Amino acid sequence: MLAGRRVLLGISGGVAAYKAAYLARRLIEAGADLEVILTDGAQQFVGKQTLAAIAGRPVHTRLFDGLSASPHTDLARWAEIIVVAPATANFLARAALGEGSDLLSATLLASKAPRLFAPAMHTEMWEQPATRRNSDQLVADGVHLVGPIQGALTSGDHGTGRMVEPDEILAEVIRILGPGDMAGLSVLVTAGGTREPIDPVRYIGNRSSGKMGNAIALDAARRGANVILITSAEAPDHENIAVVEVESAQQMADAAWSSLEGLDVAVMAAAVADFRPGRTSDTKMDRSAGPPTLAMEPTPDVLAGVAERSPETYLVGFAAEVGPLDRAIDKAKRKKVDLLVANDVSRPDSGFGTDTNQVMLVTPDGHRDVWPTMSKAEVAHRLWDTVLERR
Ligand code: CTP
Repeated sequence: MLAGRRVLLGISGGVAAYKAAYLARRLIEAGADLEVILTDGAQQFVGKQTLAAIAGRPVHTRLFDGLSASPHTDLARWAEIIVVAPATANFLARAALGEGSDLLSATLLASKAPRLFAPAMHTEMWEQPATRRNSDQLVADGVHLVGPIQGALTSGDHGTGRMVEPDEILAEVIRILGPGDMAGLSVLVTAGGTREPIDPVRYIGNRSSGKMGNAIALDAARRGANVILITSAEAPDHENIAVVEVESAQQMADAAWSSLEGLDVAVMAAAVADFRPGRTSDTKMDRSAGPPTLAMEPTPDVLAGVAERSPETYLVGFAAEVGPLDRAIDKAKRKKVDLLVANDVSRPDSGFGTDTNQVMLVTPDGHRDVWPTMSKAEVAHRLWDTVLERR
Protein backbone atom coordinates (compact mmCIF):
# COMPACT_ATOMS: atom_id res chain seq x y z
CA MET A 1 0.00 0.00 0.00
CA LEU A 2 2.77 2.42 0.88
CA ALA A 3 5.64 0.47 -0.62
CA GLY A 4 8.61 2.76 -0.94
CA ARG A 5 6.67 5.92 -0.02
CA ARG A 6 8.78 8.23 2.10
CA VAL A 7 6.97 9.04 5.34
CA LEU A 8 8.37 11.31 8.04
CA LEU A 9 6.73 10.72 11.41
CA GLY A 10 7.05 13.50 13.98
CA ILE A 11 6.18 12.64 17.57
CA SER A 12 5.51 15.44 20.03
CA GLY A 13 5.26 15.16 23.79
CA GLY A 14 1.99 13.68 24.92
CA VAL A 15 0.98 10.40 26.53
CA ALA A 16 -0.40 9.20 23.18
CA ALA A 17 3.24 9.06 22.00
CA TYR A 18 3.21 5.39 23.06
CA LYS A 19 0.64 4.79 20.31
CA ALA A 20 2.94 6.51 17.82
CA ALA A 21 5.29 3.55 18.22
CA TYR A 22 2.51 1.30 16.96
CA LEU A 23 1.76 3.76 14.15
CA ALA A 24 5.43 3.54 13.14
CA ARG A 25 5.11 -0.23 13.09
CA ARG A 26 1.95 -0.08 10.93
CA LEU A 27 3.64 2.32 8.49
CA ILE A 28 6.57 -0.07 8.14
CA GLU A 29 4.21 -3.02 7.66
CA ALA A 30 2.48 -1.05 4.89
CA GLY A 31 5.86 -0.82 3.17
CA ALA A 32 6.67 2.83 3.91
CA ASP A 33 10.21 4.10 4.07
CA LEU A 34 10.15 5.71 7.50
CA GLU A 35 12.14 8.47 9.22
CA VAL A 36 11.20 9.56 12.75
CA ILE A 37 11.68 12.84 14.61
CA LEU A 38 11.14 12.83 18.38
CA THR A 39 10.74 16.19 20.13
CA ASP A 40 12.26 16.67 23.60
CA GLY A 41 8.78 16.27 25.09
CA ALA A 42 8.17 13.04 23.19
CA GLN A 43 11.31 11.54 24.69
CA GLN A 44 9.69 11.84 28.12
CA PHE A 45 7.09 9.34 26.93
CA VAL A 46 8.85 7.02 24.47
CA GLY A 47 12.47 6.07 24.04
CA LYS A 48 14.57 6.79 20.98
CA GLN A 49 15.62 3.19 20.96
CA THR A 50 12.05 1.89 20.60
CA LEU A 51 11.40 3.99 17.53
CA ALA A 52 14.83 3.31 16.06
CA ALA A 53 14.25 -0.43 16.39
CA ILE A 54 10.85 -0.17 14.69
CA ALA A 55 12.05 2.13 11.91
CA GLY A 56 15.23 0.13 11.44
CA ARG A 57 17.37 3.29 11.50
CA PRO A 58 18.38 5.97 14.01
CA VAL A 59 15.72 8.55 14.90
CA HIS A 60 16.26 12.30 14.69
CA THR A 61 15.97 14.55 17.73
CA ARG A 62 18.10 17.64 17.25
CA LEU A 63 18.60 20.42 14.75
CA PHE A 64 22.28 20.36 15.54
CA ASP A 65 23.08 16.68 16.02
CA GLY A 66 26.21 16.72 13.91
CA LEU A 67 24.95 13.87 11.72
CA SER A 68 24.02 16.18 8.89
CA ALA A 69 24.90 19.78 8.15
CA SER A 70 21.24 20.60 7.67
CA PRO A 71 18.97 17.83 8.99
CA HIS A 72 15.75 19.84 8.68
CA THR A 73 16.19 20.59 4.97
CA ASP A 74 17.46 17.06 4.24
CA LEU A 75 14.39 15.53 5.90
CA ALA A 76 12.07 18.16 4.40
CA ARG A 77 13.27 17.38 0.88
CA TRP A 78 13.17 13.63 1.48
CA ALA A 79 9.63 13.38 2.90
CA GLU A 80 6.63 12.77 0.68
CA ILE A 81 4.40 13.39 3.68
CA ILE A 82 4.97 14.63 7.24
CA VAL A 83 2.75 13.05 9.87
CA VAL A 84 2.73 14.41 13.42
CA ALA A 85 1.14 12.06 15.94
CA PRO A 86 0.42 12.91 18.61
CA ALA A 87 0.20 16.62 17.94
CA THR A 88 0.01 18.38 21.32
CA ALA A 89 -1.62 21.77 21.94
CA ASN A 90 1.85 23.26 22.27
CA PHE A 91 2.95 21.72 18.97
CA LEU A 92 -0.19 23.01 17.19
CA ALA A 93 0.43 26.50 18.58
CA ARG A 94 4.00 26.57 17.34
CA ALA A 95 3.10 25.10 13.96
CA ALA A 96 0.26 27.62 13.51
CA LEU A 97 2.72 30.41 14.24
CA GLY A 98 5.31 29.10 11.80
CA GLU A 99 7.85 28.67 14.58
CA GLY A 100 11.02 26.78 13.76
CA SER A 101 13.21 26.47 16.82
CA ASP A 102 13.36 22.68 17.02
CA LEU A 103 13.99 19.98 14.42
CA LEU A 104 10.34 19.02 13.86
CA SER A 105 9.00 22.54 13.42
CA ALA A 106 11.99 23.62 11.32
CA THR A 107 11.48 20.59 9.06
CA LEU A 108 7.81 21.48 8.63
CA LEU A 109 8.80 25.03 7.69
CA ALA A 110 11.32 23.79 5.15
CA SER A 111 8.99 21.29 3.48
CA LYS A 112 6.38 21.52 0.75
CA ALA A 113 5.10 18.00 1.47
CA PRO A 114 1.52 17.47 2.60
CA ARG A 115 1.18 17.34 6.38
CA LEU A 116 -1.15 15.36 8.56
CA PHE A 117 -1.52 16.09 12.28
CA ALA A 118 -3.31 13.88 14.80
CA PRO A 119 -4.03 16.10 17.83
CA ALA A 120 -4.19 14.59 21.31
CA MET A 121 -4.80 16.55 24.50
CA HIS A 122 -7.22 17.11 27.33
CA THR A 123 -10.70 18.30 26.40
CA GLU A 124 -10.15 21.71 28.03
CA MET A 125 -6.97 22.25 26.03
CA TRP A 126 -8.67 21.24 22.76
CA GLU A 127 -11.61 23.53 23.48
CA GLN A 128 -9.52 26.56 24.46
CA PRO A 129 -10.16 29.48 22.10
CA ALA A 130 -6.42 29.66 21.45
CA THR A 131 -6.28 26.01 20.36
CA ARG A 132 -9.42 26.47 18.25
CA ARG A 133 -7.76 29.44 16.54
CA ASN A 134 -4.57 27.46 15.99
CA SER A 135 -6.29 24.41 14.52
CA ASP A 136 -8.47 26.64 12.28
CA GLN A 137 -5.33 28.41 11.10
CA LEU A 138 -3.59 25.13 10.35
CA VAL A 139 -6.57 23.84 8.35
CA ALA A 140 -6.63 27.16 6.45
CA ASP A 141 -2.91 26.65 5.76
CA GLY A 142 -3.69 23.30 4.13
CA VAL A 143 -2.80 20.96 7.01
CA HIS A 144 -4.88 17.78 7.24
CA LEU A 145 -6.13 17.23 10.78
CA VAL A 146 -7.41 13.82 11.84
CA GLY A 147 -9.26 13.71 15.15
CA PRO A 148 -9.22 14.13 18.02
CA ILE A 149 -12.12 11.90 18.96
CA GLN A 150 -14.24 11.48 22.05
CA GLY A 151 -13.21 8.83 24.49
CA ALA A 152 -11.38 8.02 27.67
CA LEU A 153 -8.48 10.36 28.42
CA THR A 154 -5.46 9.56 30.57
CA SER A 155 -6.60 11.85 33.39
CA GLY A 156 -9.54 9.50 33.92
CA ASP A 157 -11.82 12.02 32.20
CA HIS A 158 -13.99 11.32 29.25
CA GLY A 159 -14.29 13.81 26.41
CA THR A 160 -12.94 15.06 23.10
CA GLY A 161 -9.17 15.02 22.89
CA ARG A 162 -8.26 11.41 22.38
CA MET A 163 -5.92 10.69 19.44
CA VAL A 164 -7.50 8.62 16.65
CA GLU A 165 -6.26 5.06 16.43
CA PRO A 166 -3.03 4.43 14.48
CA ASP A 167 -4.86 2.47 11.77
CA GLU A 168 -7.03 5.48 11.05
CA ILE A 169 -3.95 7.69 10.72
CA LEU A 170 -2.44 5.07 8.39
CA ALA A 171 -5.59 5.14 6.23
CA GLU A 172 -5.35 8.94 6.01
CA VAL A 173 -1.69 8.72 4.95
CA ILE A 174 -2.67 6.29 2.18
CA ARG A 175 -5.54 8.54 1.10
CA ILE A 176 -3.39 11.69 1.02
CA LEU A 177 -0.44 10.14 -0.77
CA GLY A 178 -2.68 8.68 -3.46
CA PRO A 179 -1.68 6.04 -5.92
CA GLY A 180 1.71 7.31 -7.21
CA ASP A 181 2.77 9.02 -10.44
CA MET A 182 2.90 5.80 -12.48
CA ALA A 183 -0.55 4.51 -11.48
CA GLY A 184 -2.38 3.02 -14.44
CA LEU A 185 0.78 2.56 -16.52
CA SER A 186 1.57 -0.86 -17.87
CA VAL A 187 5.27 -1.58 -17.94
CA LEU A 188 7.49 -4.45 -19.11
CA VAL A 189 11.04 -4.90 -17.83
CA THR A 190 13.54 -7.54 -18.90
CA ALA A 191 16.39 -8.29 -16.52
CA GLY A 192 19.32 -10.61 -15.95
CA GLY A 193 21.51 -12.51 -18.34
CA THR A 194 20.17 -15.29 -20.53
CA ARG A 195 21.50 -18.84 -20.41
CA GLU A 196 21.73 -20.71 -23.68
CA PRO A 197 21.86 -24.47 -23.07
CA ILE A 198 24.63 -26.64 -24.48
CA ASP A 199 23.41 -29.80 -22.80
CA PRO A 200 21.27 -30.50 -19.67
CA VAL A 201 23.98 -29.19 -17.31
CA ARG A 202 25.96 -26.61 -19.27
CA TYR A 203 25.10 -23.30 -20.77
CA ILE A 204 26.57 -20.20 -22.35
CA GLY A 205 25.82 -17.23 -20.14
CA ASN A 206 27.05 -13.79 -19.16
CA ARG A 207 27.85 -11.82 -16.02
CA SER A 208 24.62 -9.82 -15.73
CA SER A 209 23.23 -9.91 -12.15
CA GLY A 210 19.79 -8.51 -12.89
CA LYS A 211 20.27 -5.75 -10.28
CA MET A 212 19.66 -2.85 -12.68
CA GLY A 213 16.51 -4.38 -14.17
CA ASN A 214 15.22 -5.30 -10.72
CA ALA A 215 15.72 -1.73 -9.51
CA ILE A 216 13.84 -0.43 -12.55
CA ALA A 217 10.94 -2.84 -11.99
CA LEU A 218 10.77 -2.05 -8.27
CA ASP A 219 10.81 1.71 -8.71
CA ALA A 220 7.96 1.53 -11.26
CA ALA A 221 5.97 -0.79 -8.99
CA ARG A 222 6.45 1.52 -6.02
CA ARG A 223 5.20 4.41 -8.13
CA GLY A 224 2.01 2.50 -8.88
CA ALA A 225 2.71 0.96 -12.30
CA ASN A 226 1.67 -2.58 -13.20
CA VAL A 227 4.95 -4.29 -13.96
CA ILE A 228 5.73 -7.48 -15.83
CA LEU A 229 9.29 -8.46 -14.99
CA ILE A 230 10.78 -11.08 -17.31
CA THR A 231 13.98 -12.21 -15.72
CA SER A 232 16.56 -14.92 -15.36
CA ALA A 233 17.64 -13.57 -11.95
CA GLU A 234 16.07 -13.52 -8.51
CA ALA A 235 13.22 -11.01 -8.64
CA PRO A 236 12.09 -8.43 -6.07
CA ASP A 237 8.84 -9.11 -4.26
CA HIS A 238 6.15 -6.47 -4.76
CA GLU A 239 2.41 -6.72 -5.22
CA ASN A 240 2.59 -4.69 -8.48
CA ILE A 241 5.23 -6.94 -10.05
CA ALA A 242 4.25 -10.07 -11.98
CA VAL A 243 7.40 -12.12 -12.42
CA VAL A 244 8.00 -14.38 -15.43
CA GLU A 245 11.05 -16.55 -14.91
CA VAL A 246 13.00 -17.43 -18.04
CA GLU A 247 16.40 -18.78 -18.94
CA SER A 248 17.08 -18.47 -22.65
CA ALA A 249 16.75 -15.63 -25.16
CA GLN A 250 13.99 -17.59 -26.89
CA GLN A 251 11.99 -17.90 -23.66
CA MET A 252 12.53 -14.21 -22.96
CA ALA A 253 11.33 -13.33 -26.46
CA ASP A 254 8.25 -15.56 -26.20
CA ALA A 255 7.36 -14.09 -22.81
CA ALA A 256 7.93 -10.49 -23.91
CA TRP A 257 6.11 -10.76 -27.21
CA SER A 258 3.05 -12.26 -25.56
CA SER A 259 2.88 -9.39 -23.02
CA LEU A 260 2.52 -6.47 -25.41
CA GLU A 261 -1.19 -5.77 -25.24
CA GLY A 262 -1.83 -2.32 -23.78
CA LEU A 263 1.85 -1.96 -22.94
CA ASP A 264 2.89 1.66 -22.32
CA VAL A 265 6.62 1.29 -21.70
CA ALA A 266 9.19 -1.49 -22.18
CA VAL A 267 12.63 -1.30 -20.61
CA MET A 268 14.96 -3.93 -21.98
CA ALA A 269 17.64 -4.15 -19.31
CA ALA A 270 18.44 -7.83 -19.85
CA ALA A 271 21.79 -8.95 -21.23
CA VAL A 272 20.51 -11.22 -23.96
CA ALA A 273 22.84 -13.64 -25.71
CA ASP A 274 23.20 -12.81 -29.40
CA PHE A 275 24.06 -16.41 -30.33
CA ARG A 276 23.20 -19.85 -29.00
CA PRO A 277 24.38 -23.37 -29.78
CA GLY A 278 22.51 -24.49 -32.88
CA ARG A 279 21.97 -27.89 -31.34
CA THR A 280 21.38 -28.74 -27.68
CA SER A 281 22.46 -32.20 -26.62
CA ASP A 282 19.73 -34.11 -24.76
CA THR A 283 22.30 -35.95 -22.72
CA LYS A 284 25.31 -34.67 -20.84
CA MET A 285 28.20 -34.38 -23.23
CA ASP A 286 30.94 -36.82 -22.42
CA ARG A 287 34.48 -35.60 -21.75
CA SER A 288 35.89 -38.73 -23.36
CA ALA A 289 34.32 -37.66 -26.68
CA GLY A 290 36.91 -34.86 -26.79
CA PRO A 291 36.45 -31.09 -27.16
CA PRO A 292 33.15 -30.36 -28.91
CA THR A 293 32.72 -27.82 -31.66
CA LEU A 294 29.68 -25.69 -31.01
CA ALA A 295 28.01 -24.45 -34.16
CA MET A 296 26.17 -21.25 -33.17
CA GLU A 297 23.03 -19.63 -34.50
CA PRO A 298 21.51 -16.20 -33.82
CA THR A 299 18.96 -15.74 -31.04
CA PRO A 300 15.83 -13.65 -31.56
CA ASP A 301 16.30 -9.95 -30.84
CA VAL A 302 13.76 -9.45 -28.07
CA LEU A 303 13.91 -5.68 -28.26
CA ALA A 304 13.55 -5.53 -32.04
CA GLY A 305 10.53 -7.81 -31.79
CA VAL A 306 8.88 -5.46 -29.28
CA ALA A 307 9.60 -2.44 -31.52
CA GLU A 308 8.10 -4.21 -34.52
CA ARG A 309 5.04 -5.73 -32.85
CA SER A 310 4.13 -2.81 -30.60
CA PRO A 311 5.28 0.46 -32.18
CA GLU A 312 3.15 2.53 -29.81
CA THR A 313 5.08 1.24 -26.76
CA TYR A 314 7.74 3.67 -25.49
CA LEU A 315 10.89 1.62 -25.82
CA VAL A 316 14.01 1.91 -23.67
CA GLY A 317 17.05 -0.15 -24.62
CA PHE A 318 20.28 -0.77 -22.76
CA ALA A 319 23.74 -0.97 -24.23
CA ALA A 320 26.39 -2.78 -22.28
CA GLU A 321 29.65 -1.51 -23.73
CA VAL A 322 33.25 -2.12 -22.85
CA GLY A 323 35.21 1.14 -23.01
CA PRO A 324 34.01 4.38 -24.61
CA LEU A 325 30.29 4.77 -25.17
CA ASP A 326 30.52 6.30 -28.69
CA ARG A 327 28.98 3.22 -30.31
CA ALA A 328 25.85 3.79 -28.26
CA ILE A 329 24.74 6.74 -30.40
CA ASP A 330 24.68 4.60 -33.50
CA LYS A 331 22.99 1.81 -31.53
CA ALA A 332 20.21 4.16 -30.39
CA LYS A 333 19.37 4.85 -34.05
CA ARG A 334 19.80 1.28 -35.22
CA LYS A 335 17.73 -0.31 -32.47
CA LYS A 336 14.67 1.93 -33.06
CA VAL A 337 14.43 2.79 -29.37
CA ASP A 338 13.03 5.99 -27.90
CA LEU A 339 15.82 6.08 -25.35
CA LEU A 340 19.04 4.12 -24.88
CA VAL A 341 20.84 3.71 -21.57
CA ALA A 342 24.51 3.00 -22.18
CA ASN A 343 27.02 1.92 -19.60
CA ASP A 344 30.63 0.83 -19.62
CA VAL A 345 30.49 -2.56 -17.92
CA SER A 346 34.27 -2.74 -17.56
CA ARG A 347 34.36 0.05 -14.94
CA PRO A 348 34.53 -0.98 -11.27
CA ASP A 349 31.60 1.34 -10.33
CA SER A 350 29.39 0.38 -13.24
CA GLY A 351 27.72 -2.52 -14.95
CA PHE A 352 27.36 -6.17 -14.03
CA GLY A 353 26.99 -7.11 -10.37
CA THR A 354 27.78 -3.68 -8.89
CA ASP A 355 25.32 -1.71 -6.74
CA THR A 356 26.15 1.51 -8.55
CA ASN A 357 26.00 2.48 -12.18
CA GLN A 358 27.34 5.25 -14.35
CA VAL A 359 25.21 5.66 -17.43
CA MET A 360 24.77 7.86 -20.45
CA LEU A 361 21.31 8.42 -21.91
CA VAL A 362 21.13 8.69 -25.67
CA THR A 363 18.20 9.58 -27.89
CA PRO A 364 17.99 8.54 -31.55
CA ASP A 365 18.55 12.18 -32.61
CA GLY A 366 22.00 11.95 -31.03
CA HIS A 367 21.31 13.93 -27.86
CA ARG A 368 23.29 12.57 -24.90
CA ASP A 369 23.10 13.08 -21.19
CA VAL A 370 25.92 11.75 -19.01
CA TRP A 371 24.83 10.95 -15.45
CA PRO A 372 27.23 10.74 -12.49
CA THR A 373 27.80 7.44 -10.71
CA MET A 374 24.72 6.67 -8.61
CA SER A 375 23.16 3.71 -6.87
CA LYS A 376 21.17 1.52 -9.26
CA ALA A 377 18.02 2.52 -7.31
CA GLU A 378 18.73 6.17 -8.05
CA VAL A 379 19.46 5.48 -11.70
CA ALA A 380 16.14 3.60 -11.89
CA HIS A 381 14.23 6.47 -10.28
CA ARG A 382 15.77 9.10 -12.54
CA LEU A 383 15.26 6.92 -15.57
CA TRP A 384 11.52 6.73 -14.88
CA ASP A 385 11.42 10.49 -14.26
CA THR A 386 12.99 10.93 -17.70
CA VAL A 387 10.63 8.45 -19.38
CA LEU A 388 7.57 10.10 -17.81
CA GLU A 389 8.80 13.49 -18.97
CA ARG A 390 9.59 12.41 -22.54
CA ARG A 391 6.77 10.07 -23.48
N1 CTP B 1 18.67 -7.20 -26.85
C1 CTP B 1 17.57 -8.03 -27.00
N2 CTP B 1 17.70 -9.23 -27.63
C2 CTP B 1 18.88 -9.64 -28.10
C3 CTP B 1 20.03 -8.82 -27.95
C4 CTP B 1 19.89 -7.60 -27.32
O1 CTP B 1 16.47 -7.65 -26.58
N3 CTP B 1 18.98 -10.83 -28.69
C5 CTP B 1 18.48 -5.89 -26.23
C6 CTP B 1 19.17 -5.74 -24.89
O2 CTP B 1 18.29 -6.10 -23.84
C7 CTP B 1 19.48 -4.25 -24.87
C8 CTP B 1 19.70 -3.89 -26.31
O3 CTP B 1 19.07 -4.94 -27.06
O4 CTP B 1 18.39 -3.49 -24.41
C9 CTP B 1 21.11 -3.75 -26.76
O5 CTP B 1 21.81 -4.91 -26.46
P1 CTP B 1 23.34 -5.07 -26.91
O6 CTP B 1 23.75 -6.45 -26.65
O7 CTP B 1 24.13 -3.95 -26.33
O8 CTP B 1 23.17 -4.76 -28.47
P2 CTP B 1 23.42 -5.60 -29.74
O9 CTP B 1 22.35 -5.28 -30.71
O10 CTP B 1 23.60 -7.01 -29.39
O11 CTP B 1 24.70 -4.91 -30.30
P3 CTP B 1 26.24 -5.33 -30.22
O12 CTP B 1 26.29 -6.78 -29.90
O13 CTP B 1 26.71 -4.99 -31.59
O14 CTP B 1 26.85 -4.47 -29.17
